[in-house]
Amino acid sequence: MSFRIQPAAPARLNRCQLFGPGSRPELFPKMAASAADVINIDLEDSVAPDDKDGARANGVAATRDIDWGAKTLSVRINGLDTPYWHKDVIELLERGSERLDMIMIPKVGCAEDVYAVDALATAVERATGRMKPVAFEVIIETAAGIAHVEDIAKASPRLQAMSLGAADFAASMGMQTTGIGGTQENYYMLREGRKYWSDPWHWAQTAIVAACRTHGLLPVDGPFGDFSDPDGFRAQATRSATLGMVGKWAIHPSQIALANEAFTPSEATVAEAREILRAMEDAKKSGAGAAVHNGRLVDIASIRQAEVIVRQAGMIAGGRREPQSVGLREPASTRELVETP
Ligand code: COA
Ligand code: MG
Repeated sequence: MSFRIQPAAPARLNRCQLFGPGSRPELFPKMAASAADVINIDLEDSVAPDDKDGARANGVAATRDIDWGAKTLSVRINGLDTPYWHKDVIELLERGSERLDMIMIPKVGCAEDVYAVDALATAVERATGRMKPVAFEVIIETAAGIAHVEDIAKASPRLQAMSLGAADFAASMGMQTTGIGGTQENYYMLREGRKYWSDPWHWAQTAIVAACRTHGLLPVDGPFGDFSDPDGFRAQATRSATLGMVGKWAIHPSQIALANEAFTPSEATVAEAREILRAMEDAKKSGAGAAVHNGRLVDIASIRQAEVIVRQAGMIAGGRREPQSVGLREPASTRELVETP
């Protein structure tokens, strides 16, 4: 392992981020009553230009008037190329309550975009005496965003999460698709006359996961546009979870349960992880660094893999907080995990 220890991501659940347009405040109570871990009130692309002021006012009011329970509350501001974003930040922080946890910055293309919002947020917080610094999450959804993803991930201590926004990403990259995430009909390999579909989002997702894990952020998969295709959503979400992402957006309430399920390790997965930890405890007692479990090699790296799953399950089950270095602690912690019911 590098001398530089991998920082932990924020210790909170982020399996599903439910979006709703700021211009539809009648949805807010339904969003608050949902099973999503994170709420995103949108002031950006789901709000028409004429509705921007009204949506912003609704977003501000929502930080005061709605009981969001234990959810993380985030408002997506407009992009830095618009005449709206500065007002979004100023009004949310001047007039919104401290219940607001995060501001989501869309279409981030370079670290300076985050710096600009940070400078403005800092000035408003100082001027108003806000006690709780607002956190940031960003969307990587442009060619520049993915090219500068690592610089962006370390751009501000306020940063907690980073999402891939498939639709704008595809547009910015010039991809020939109007699909928002998921399998793309024309992205296939051909072998012996048969098509095998590949995943055009894979490299961007992996780049985001690597940048996030290097700098202690939560990597999140963005929207899946076809909300009448639950199987397609499930397949996309399960791939994202396998790659290391912690959650996915829902743009319709029907997607919430699908996201929660995909990003909650199954009982069988958790049981297997515990068995691996137990096998390694036994190996350690006999002085071995590797062992055989169900006909497969397990070694000290397997402990770190199993720890990721067991700790995640523990956090979901008990609302417990993740440890400081998920999956990267030394094997000394194994006993505690094995013994946790
Ligand atoms: N959050 C909570 N509840 C929602 C909801 C949301 N985002 N979207 C719809 N609902 C509710 C509806 O009010 C309706 O409730 P009811 O049964 O009490 O009447 C129910 O869920 C079914 O809604 P439905 O009629 O299928 O959807 P719709 O036509 O009202 O809206 C969308 C569909 C896609 C326009 C809407 O879900 C939406 O605006 N999603 C978010 C879009 C967004 O924020 N995009 C930006 C990020 S990509
Ligand atoms: Mg977008």
